[in-house]
Amino acid sequence: MISSSFVNGKMIKIKTATNFDTSATYNPNNETEKRGSLRERSKIYYSRRGNISIIELQGLFDGSSGTKIVAMSLRLIVAITGASGVIYGKRLLEVLVESKVEIYLIVSKAAESVIRHELGTTKKQLEKLAKHVYDVNDLSASLASGSFKTEGMIVIPCSMKTLAGIAHGYSDNLILRAADVALKEKRKLILVPRETPLSVVHLRNMLNLASQGVHILPAMPAFYHKPEKMEDLIDFVVGKALDLLGMEHELFKRWSS
Ligand SMILES: Cc1cc2nc3c(=O)[nH]c(=O)nc-3n(C[C@H](O)[C@H](O)[C@H](O)COP(=O)(O)O)c2cc1C
Repeated sequence: MISSSFVNGKMIKIKTATNFDTSATYNPNNETEKRGSLRERSKIYYSRRGNISIIELQGLFDGSSGTKIVAMSLRLIVAITGASGVIYGKRLLEVLVESKVEIYLIVSKAAESVIRHELGTTKKQLEKLAKHVYDVNDLSASLASGSFKTEGMIVIPCSMKTLAGIAHGYSDNLILRAADVALKEKRKLILVPRETPLSVVHLRNMLNLASQGVHILPAMPAFYHKPEKMEDLIDFVVGKALDLLGMEHELFKRWSS
C-alpha cells in the first residue's frame, strides 16, 4: 500500500510492504527519485502508542530536522477456526498483508485439517502471511491479556463450537480467550460464522453475542454484484469484513441504482 504525506511542504510517498519493512520515494521537484534514496538521507523510526504502530521520518531534506508521522498501523487479531470456508481467512490475510494492519494470527487445531482438505495446503504455509503467529494452546501469550492493546479481533471462518465458546465465556484456548478479552475490553469483535442450517442453539448464541455489540457477519455472499467466479464470492464476504474494520477496498462493486 502506498500512502502520501506532506513533510515540510513536500510530498513523501511511503510504500509499506509489511509494517516493519518500509521503503520510500521522495519527490522534491516532481522528479521521482529512486526508491531507497530516502532511507540514506533520513532515519525511519518505529514506535507504538497503545494499539497503534507508528512510522516516523526524522532528519528530512533541506537541512530540516523535523519529525513527521508518515504511516500508522493497527494491531488486529485474526483467528481461523475449523468451519468450512477457510479460504475466507486466507483471502483476508492476503488483503491485510497489503495494508498497514499488523496481523496477530491464531489457527485452531480443527482448522488445520480443514485447511489441508479445502485448500490443499498446510497451516504452516498459511501462517507465512502473518508477521505474528500464536499457538492456539498458548494461554500465556500476550493476546490472552487485556493489557495487550489491539484494535480488535476477527474470527474467519468461525465454527459453531468457537461461537458457542465465545458466547459463554468458555475460554479454554487462545482464540476463545482473545475473543473473551475483546468482549470484556469492549473492543471490536467480528465473527464470520459458517454453518447451515442453523439450530436454535446456534441462533441463540449469535443473538447473545450480537446483543453485546459483536458483529455477526455470516459467510453469505451476495449476487447483486454479478459474481463471475468463486473469487468474486469470496471477495464479497472479505470486503464486508473490511467494511466493518473501516478499511477502504475495492473487492466488490457496490450497489448503486
Ligand atoms: C471438512 C470439515 C468441515 C467443517 N465445517 C464446519 C462448518 O462449516 N461449521 C462448523 O461449525 N463446523 C464445521 N466443522 C466441524 C468443526 O471443525 C468442529 O466443530 C471443531 O470442533 C471446531 O473446532 P474449532 O472451533 O476449535 O476450530 C467441519 C469439520 C470438518 C472436518
